[in-house]
Amino acid sequence: MYKRAIYRLLLLTVLSVILQAVFPVYGRDNQRLVNFNRDWKFTKGDPERAETPDFDDSAWQKVRLPHDWAITGPFNPEENGYAGKLPWKGVGWYRKIFTLKKTDSGRRVYFDFDGVMAFPKVYVNGQLAGEWDYGYMSFRVDVTRYVKAGTNVIAVRADTSRHGTRWYPGAGIYRKVAMTICEQVHIAHWGTFITTSKVNEDSATVSVSSAIENHLDTESQVTVEVILLSPEGKTVAQGRKSGTIPSGLSAEIVQSFVINNPRRWDIKSPKLYTAKTTIRAGDKIIDTDVTTFGIRTFRFTADDGFHLNGRRVQLYGVNLHHDQGPLGAAFYTRAMERQLEIMREMGVNAIRTSHNPPSPELPDLCDRMGFVVWDECFDKWNSTADRMRDAPLVEHGKKQLRNFVMRDRNHPSVFVWSIGNEIADVENNSSGDAPEQVKSLGDFVRKLDPTRPVGMGCYIPSAVRKKVLGTLDLTGWNYDRRYAPYRELYPDKPIIYSESASALSTRGFYEPELANTKTEYSKRLQVDCYDLNAASWSDIPDKEFQLMADDSFVAGEFVWTGFDYLGEPTPFSQEARSSYFGIVDLCGIPKDRFYLYRSYWRPDTTTVHILPHWNWPEHVGKNVPVFVYTNGDSAELFLNGESLGRRTKGVQPVKPVNFAQGKSATASSAESDKGNLAANANDADDSTRWCAAAAGAGQWWQVDLGKIESVGYLAIEFEKEAKNYGYEIKVSADNSTWHTIVTRGTSRTPRWGGPRRAFHEVDAKARFIRIEFTELQEGTWASIREFGAYPEKVESAYYDVTYKYRLRWNNAIYEPGRLKAIAYKNGKEIGQVVMRTAGKPAAIRLTPDRKELRATGEDLCYILVEAVDDMGTLCPLADNLVRFKVEGPAEIAAVGNGNPLSLEPFQADHRKLFYGKAMLILRTKEGKSDKVLVVAESDGLRGADIALRCSR
Ligand code: GAL
Repeated sequence: MYKRAIYRLLLLTVLSVILQAVFPVYGRDNQRLVNFNRDWKFTKGDPERAETPDFDDSAWQKVRLPHDWAITGPFNPEENGYAGKLPWKGVGWYRKIFTLKKTDSGRRVYFDFDGVMAFPKVYVNGQLAGEWDYGYMSFRVDVTRYVKAGTNVIAVRADTSRHGTRWYPGAGIYRKVAMTICEQVHIAHWGTFITTSKVNEDSATVSVSSAIENHLDTESQVTVEVILLSPEGKTVAQGRKSGTIPSGLSAEIVQSFVINNPRRWDIKSPKLYTAKTTIRAGDKIIDTDVTTFGIRTFRFTADDGFHLNGRRVQLYGVNLHHDQGPLGAAFYTRAMERQLEIMREMGVNAIRTSHNPPSPELPDLCDRMGFVVWDECFDKWNSTADRMRDAPLVEHGKKQLRNFVMRDRNHPSVFVWSIGNEIADVENNSSGDAPEQVKSLGDFVRKLDPTRPVGMGCYIPSAVRKKVLGTLDLTGWNYDRRYAPYRELYPDKPIIYSESASALSTRGFYEPELANTKTEYSKRLQVDCYDLNAASWSDIPDKEFQLMADDSFVAGEFVWTGFDYLGEPTPFSQEARSSYFGIVDLCGIPKDRFYLYRSYWRPDTTTVHILPHWNWPEHVGKNVPVFVYTNGDSAELFLNGESLGRRTKGVQPVKPVNFAQGKSATASSAESDKGNLAANANDADDSTRWCAAAAGAGQWWQVDLGKIESVGYLAIEFEKEAKNYGYEIKVSADNSTWHTIVTRGTSRTPRWGGPRRAFHEVDAKARFIRIEFTELQEGTWASIREFGAYPEKVESAYYDVTYKYRLRWNNAIYEPGRLKAIAYKNGKEIGQVVMRTAGKPAAIRLTPDRKELRATGEDLCYILVEAVDDMGTLCPLADNLVRFKVEGPAEIAAVGNGNPLSLEPFQADHRKLFYGKAMLILRTKEGKSDKVLVVAESDGLRGADIALRCSR
């Protein structure tokens, strides 16, 4: 008896020693995950042997990740702006020394990279341990074979030279890196997969699948214990299940739970549950994992948009590029959180991660803050996806999609997997393989995650009949109601307006002469903030509001873009270095458009916003139009106490008479078999048109006004874009002697799209007006939808829609002073706002977004810097240079001012104001609690200082 007891004890002791060697007690507390962002060395260039442990990197720069080597510039003024004029192309190296404990021997060691731009090669102790081939993708490198107890060296080579892009991509290890140390048997990378089903008021079924890898030579018995916690942290379900993991393989252990009275994840109240997973071998814990998830139901419908938890939700979305403005591509969670806060304030409830996998923190933040995410993997399927010419498309696609879906599939905020954006070859099926490719990638995604639809961002309406898109669950369409043919061919498939607007503006810049067409831009390389400009292929915001209201089968719009971004500076692609598309500028300072969206997307929250500023010394006594953006239905405007009248949404100003409308029209010929008769061109209906009976120049159309009129303005809407038509316009009093008043040729610009309308200011006495087509681009016939002749300039009918969403005083005469708007809704005043003429800049004002910071080395503070006059009024034209000093545990991460043309460095201790404003971005230092003092000085102005608190 006694002997047996001793034996048993001995056996147990030996077993537990063996087990402990193989399975030491190990969990989160033992730092399974090590933050690996600190203490790196970096050099640009490609020094030989940089991967070897004894390489002398003492002259390299000390950096902390995330790091974007190109954002420090310098800008290259000669280069065009498509990628920000920044030096992102080339090779760079990173090195870091790290130590492993003796107790780590026998464990698995992985490096988890969230993204390295581009083509990273990861060396450990001189040996190539792993590499990756898509700069935006998160990936894991198993370095177990290459590490040792004691000192180790990791070296990472990043090479952007083959990376293709249509914007600024950044360069280097621009997202975080973690080292994961775990046992030989452990939860696989992204190995927890949680899905919910049978969700109703009373209960929800939650399935937790745990993929477990076994790197031992023998099979392993494990028990997976799962505890589900409510949003308040109370245990709501738990269970355990055992299984055998074969040697050298991975196996899934799936458990199912029922949660009673489930709390829904919703954009209104994003309730998150937590699954705590513990893996045991015997009674030893060998791994743990914590995963948040949400319980919600959703449907994208073909006829009634998007439904979340049983109710229709209109998607008020924005596209966001991955850069963080002056910080470049370097990812900071706080920068992203701030972007989302600003967007939410405007009414945004959906984000499209255009056009690449975001940092993993983005869906995390969206889970917590309540956004719907269109998660997108690629732009094109070529070198912008780092797919080289010879790489097989489907293979490359699947490799990336695997990581993409596995990483993000537990996020309740993610609703769509997008396998690409605007892939012309694919939409057009140029290779003949596109339908199979799309199907194969779509099926692959659905296999990894059967719970979400697979879609794509499309843009070629005429390609729909190639039937490439049929296997997608839904499609996104970019601009101009291009989804119409798809809707016809696939009436059962849901549609999302994945890009809308592409409206353009520069914060703070106005020209009182309003644009006649959306593509009539200022000559000053900035885009006017009256919000009447858009790219040639796209539209002003109001047009899209109307479209979404009309086409309620569409789930909603994603505006291009929420924030300005580095690169793609349409329409000044050569001169500028960052976009004009943003609703807020590159620093996150709202442009006027912000208030237009806010007024429409948040109808129950008071917005009363006046534009432009009221400092027009050169315009005293002249016209300066005033617009008010409000959620109210009307407003009255006062200038220095005098009412300029009340405007009401939906009421359009009376337009000058159109002499041509309904008058007798004749033409050289008419396509009468299709009903395209001469009278259709002046019937006040632009859905009907006159068209000549045959292709080719020489055709004409004319109208008899009935009597001689003084004609000051002609407005023509052609069948196609106006650039396709070359013509002369002639006038006559007697239909026999003609006098040419307009001559215009065809044009190749813009390359894509362009307005269908043309306008001509003329000064003629005419009874007969004739347009003769002298030149037509291939495929274009002489054809007119509407021809108008007016006594004076008339605003294009394109802008009629603006009167529905904004209040406009087009004829305000400027005098300095005080402009006041009082807004009303249903007859009741909802708010008022005053815009004053500012005096001379007198002082600097600093406004931080937060005063309490965390000493993490990665927390940020955004400080708005403004010039104000003696009364504290913003000076809207000020461009003073401001210098900054920072004391305490924080440093300047970047400065900026939202000027797309500025080539001043982002990393500096000074910045010029741009239309009165600039942004100073501070980054905290790690580990130090103390006061941070920020001082701003500018010649001739009173300086300012503020104190912030930085704590551990
Ligand atoms: C879209 C494209 C976007 C951006 C945008 C600008 O067609 O998908 O990436 O280029 O145009 O308007």
